[in-house]
Amino acid sequence: MNYIYLDNAATTPVDPKVLKAMMPYYTEKYGNASSGHTKGREAKDAMERARKVIARSIGAKTEEIIFTSGGTESNNMALKSIAFENKNKGNHIIVSKIEHDCVVNACKWLEKQGFKVTYLDVNENGFVRVEDLEKAITKDTLLVSIIHGNNEIGTIQDLKKLGEVCKKHNVLFHTDTCQSYTKVDINVNKMNLDLVTLNAHKIHGPKGIGALYIRNGTNIKAWQHGGGHERNLRSGTENIHGIVGFAEAVKQGMSGKHVRYMTQLRDKLIKGVLEIPEVELNGPVGDKRLCNNANFYFKRIEGEAIGGYLDLKGIASSTGSACSAHTLEPSHVLLAIGRSKEQANGSIRLSISRFTTEQEIDYLMKHLPGIIKKLRLISPL
Ligand SMILES: Cc1ncc(COP(=O)(O)O)c(C=O)c1O
Repeated sequence: MNYIYLDNAATTPVDPKVLKAMMPYYTEKYGNASSGHTKGREAKDAMERARKVIARSIGAKTEEIIFTSGGTESNNMALKSIAFENKNKGNHIIVSKIEHDCVVNACKWLEKQGFKVTYLDVNENGFVRVEDLEKAITKDTLLVSIIHGNNEIGTIQDLKKLGEVCKKHNVLFHTDTCQSYTKVDINVNKMNLDLVTLNAHKIHGPKGIGALYIRNGTNIKAWQHGGGHERNLRSGTENIHGIVGFAEAVKQGMSGKHVRYMTQLRDKLIKGVLEIPEVELNGPVGDKRLCNNANFYFKRIEGEAIGGYLDLKGIASSTGSACSAHTLEPSHVLLAIGRSKEQANGSIRLSISRFTTEQEIDYLMKHLPGIIKKLRLISPL
């Protein structure tokens, strides 16, 4: 067996079809999209075709998509650019307690700049309660930002219901869809979304490219200044090969067939792991969970130790989101759903992709029970 990669929520391998689509933009089609000559126009046309693909995939208008360097930048732009441009309206922002670190840390920074942030509780499966959101909105609230599919426990929020509340109170609504994009239907109009964060490397596209959907008419200011690219909102020579790869990844990824395949493989994985004694699933079951996500709490073991032993067997797993892997703090997401520090530290995430095979899950299940048994025997807990 080759190395088995079950950390697709951190990043995914680039689809060979995506790489093929990108290659000409490294070699013969290398123009700068701002240049007026043939090579420049070639690049610009490719970029605009890609923008259209991405806009259509979420029911947006083409000009409402701004390319960025990825999810982190889009989330920072959505929060900071909106906060500063709309501060005459109020100084209050609402997010959930299970946002990605880039939203959490952007909010902490905004608090230092004088903004007030409410961090909404979630229930034991990670769902934001619609009534909690409604109660938290004040006359000073300018933005609500709620993650769509959670990167650690796979919870898929009901954006339609949350969006209705934001619309009713005339508050801007942003969502981070880095984990759910192409796996769950997203429609900016049906869900009342004003801003949407998207990225490519979670969907078999290249790293370092993402987008922000900004509804026409939204008050937003540039955060990065320069030559006026991307409707003057995000200056910098566009990453054409990345943009082309991003759109190709969307085209390849948007298929109910992939979602059905991953769902049945995820359920096989969950069923198999839950047969090991003293294991619990973190996050919801069924169709309210991302089709590629599984996360388990193993009693009396450190998650890091499980990850280390799995790696020795040639299997990649994760003890949390890749971005916070350098800290030894327990996951804020697992704490928010009511896990204790010990339980959070005893948890691991296994995330599949449409390229994961049944044989790979069988290989995992051949080795995981033995690893757990061994670690429990040597556990001081
Ligand atoms: C939910 C979520 N938001 C944002 C990001 C950051 O995206 P990027 O790596 O493109 O900056 C990630 C990736 O880890 C993510 O999972």
